[in-house]
Amino acid sequence: MKTSVEMWAPATVANLNVGFDSLGCALSAPGERMVLRRIDNRGEVRIADVHGAELDLHPERNVASIAAKSLLNALGNPCGLELELFKTILPGSGIGSSAASAAAAAAGVNAILEAGLRPDELIPFALDGESFASGARHADNVAPALMGGMVVCPPEGAPISIPAPSGWHMVVLHPQVTIRTADSRAVLPSDVKLTAASKQAAWFAAFVAACYERDDAAAALALEDLLVGPHRGALIPHFMETRELAFRHGARAGGISGSGPSTFWVALSKDSANEIAGSLKDLMVDKGLDHSIHLSAVSARGAYEI
Ligand code: HSE
Repeated sequence: MKTSVEMWAPATVANLNVGFDSLGCALSAPGERMVLRRIDNRGEVRIADVHGAELDLHPERNVASIAAKSLLNALGNPCGLELELFKTILPGSGIGSSAASAAAAAAGVNAILEAGLRPDELIPFALDGESFASGARHADNVAPALMGGMVVCPPEGAPISIPAPSGWHMVVLHPQVTIRTADSRAVLPSDVKLTAASKQAAWFAAFVAACYERDDAAAALALEDLLVGPHRGALIPHFMETRELAFRHGARAGGISGSGPSTFWVALSKDSANEIAGSLKDLMVDKGLDHSIHLSAVSARGAYEI
C-alpha cells in the first residue's frame, strides 16, 4: 500500500488562438510538483503547506484539495489525504497554474490509491477543482495537463487527443502583471459575426488537419485569432511590440496564452526560439517589467508520478 506519492503536472497553453475554451496543449516547461500523503481520517483532505505562492489553505477554497476530495469521495473515501504543493507556475500567469494543481491532485489520488483510472477519466474530478478557480467549467487547461500533448475539447463528450506538432519550439513570456480570468473574459463580446465565426472555424479545422498531416509549419500558419485576441490584446502589457518583435525574430505564430498575461510564440528551430526569447527579454528589461521566459515544446506527458 502506498503511503505517499510525489506528482508532477505541466503548465498548459489554452485556446492557441483558434480554439477558445476548446483547445489546449501541455508544455515541457514549466511544471510543478505536489506530494500527497495518506492520513487516517477517512474522507478528510487537508493542505499541509503551499510553497512558492500565497494560496488559500482552506480545503474548500483550494483547487487541489477540491479536486482530490472529489476523486477520493468517488473512490469510497478509503483514507484521508494531506497535500503539499510546490507552486512554480504562478497563479494568474495564463499558463494553467490552477489546472496543474487540479491535475496533479486528481492524478495523485489515482496513484496513491492505485485506482487505475486513465488520465481522461480523471478530467471531471480535476475540473471540479479547476472550475472553482476559473468560475467556468472548461477543460482546455485541465485536459492537456492530465493527458499531455494537444487536446481538443468539444462542446459535449470526451476531450480528444490529436497529434501535436513535434517540431514546435515555443517561447512563453510571462510579464508579471495580474490579469484575473474573469476580467479577461469580461472584455469579450457575447456575440460574434457569422463571417468571423466561419473563418475562425476554418482556421481551427486547418490547424487540426495540419496536425494530422504532421506539417508543423502549416499548423503554425493556421493559428489566426479572429475572435478573442483582438479584444484581449489591450490587457497585455506591450502586446503589439511583443508580437512585432517575436515575428521579426522568426516566430511563425503566437498570441495570448489562455486568458493572459502570458503570450506564446512558435518557432520552427531552437536557434530561432532562442533569438525570440532574447529579444523579448530585452523588451521587458527596457520597459522595466518583471517577467519570466520559458523555452518549451509540446509535452507528450500529462501529470505523472515522479
Ligand atoms: N479558455 C480560457 C479563457 C482559459 O481564455 O478564458 C483561461 O481559463
